[in-house]
Order: sequence, then structure tokens, then C-alpha cells
Amino acid sequence: MRLVIAITGASGALYLQRFLHHLDGKGHELHLVMSSYAKQVIHQELGTLAIPLEVQQYQEKSMMAPFASGSALFDAMIIIPCSMGTVGRIASGTSETLILRAADVFLKERRKLILVVRETPWNLIQARNIVTVMEAGACVLPAMPSFYSNPKTLEEVADTVVFRLLDQLGIESPNACRWQES
Ligand SMILES: Cc1cc2nc3c(=O)[nH]c(=O)nc-3n(C[C@H](O)[C@H](O)[C@H](O)COP(=O)(O)O)c2cc1C
Repeated sequence: MRLVIAITGASGALYLQRFLHHLDGKGHELHLVMSSYAKQVIHQELGTLAIPLEVQQYQEKSMMAPFASGSALFDAMIIIPCSMGTVGRIASGTSETLILRAADVFLKERRKLILVVRETPWNLIQARNIVTVMEAGACVLPAMPSFYSNPKTLEEVADTVVFRLLDQLGIESPNACRWQES
């Protein structure tokens, strides 16, 4: 799979860390962009993000990336975690950073865009922005962990969200807990 991964300044950098952990990087082409606030949150929550060597990284303030254009063929883009600020900027189509431009491109090209949003509670502006991006074709997959698998560690809690994301991408996750199956 040819995948764009963005991380923004919402709490939950662990979700991206676990996503990278579960993904077999060698089987996919991975392109990563971080917002400047994402770097602050990573520092606060993880110290550092372990990024596999094969992941290609890009600057947020440069459009010198293939996925800044609809001419490049990608399978999906995920923003994990996705701040409500980024949801609002996608909803208004500002397209002013590489993350926002790429999201704009994926929507206009009708490609898969998955936003792992995290904020609670929501105000009405945020709720309306969520509706706007869904109407434009985005999949909103809130970072809402589940507990019926009795997770014992923070990593296992985060995985309950990451496994649902892998499902949306059509990537097999043999370790996922499935109700009444495993
Ligand atoms: C430690 C920390 C945690 C944050 N958590 C959230 C959050 O969970 N959700 C959110 O929407 N914004 C959160 N923010 C605020 C965003 O970082 C801020 O709105 C920023 O402008 C988002 O910009 P970006 O989307 O370009 O990264 C947090 C900020 C910090 C410093």
C-alpha cells in the first residue's frame, strides 16, 4: 500500500507509534509528515517517536512531495492523531501546509482519507467541522479505545483503536481482538 501518514498536535502520539509498530513497513510505501505542534506533543508524551528507516519524511511547510498533487497515485492518507484545529482547516479548505494540501487532494481525488481525531468534549464548531469533512468524503475514526478485550497496558489500549484503523485500510491485523471470534 502507498500510504501518507500525518501526525498533528492532538494528544495520543502513542497511537501513531503503535500503528507503525503493527505495520510491516517493508510491505508498504510509507510517507510521513509531522505538524510543528505534533513534535511538541511527541516530546511531551513519548520523548521520541521511533520511525522505521524505510519511512520517507517531509517538511510540513514544503510542497515538494508527490502527494501534494493529485497526479501521484496513493491508496490512502491517515492523520493520527488529528487535532480539531486540523479538522477545521481541512473543512475550510485552506490547503496551506503539506498536511492540509494532501488532505485536500485526497478528498478531491475521492481517495481514502482517515482522520483519527482526539478531543473531548466537542464544541458546536468542532462538531460541524466533523460533519463537513465527512460530507466531503473523509472517514472519521475517533481515538476512542474499547475495553471489552481487557487491555492490560497503555499499548494494548491504544491498539484497540489502531486495529480498527488497520481494518479501515484493509491491512490484516492477526492480533486484533474481535468480539466473539478470538
Ligand atoms: C500536550 C498537548 C496536547 C494537546 N491535545 C490536543 C487534543 O487532544 N486535541 C486537539 O484538538 N488539540 C490538542 N492540542 C492543541 C493543538 O496542538 C493545537 O490546537 C494546535 O494548533 C494544533 O495544530 P496542528 O493541527 O497543526 O498540529 C494539544 C496541545 C498540546 C501542547
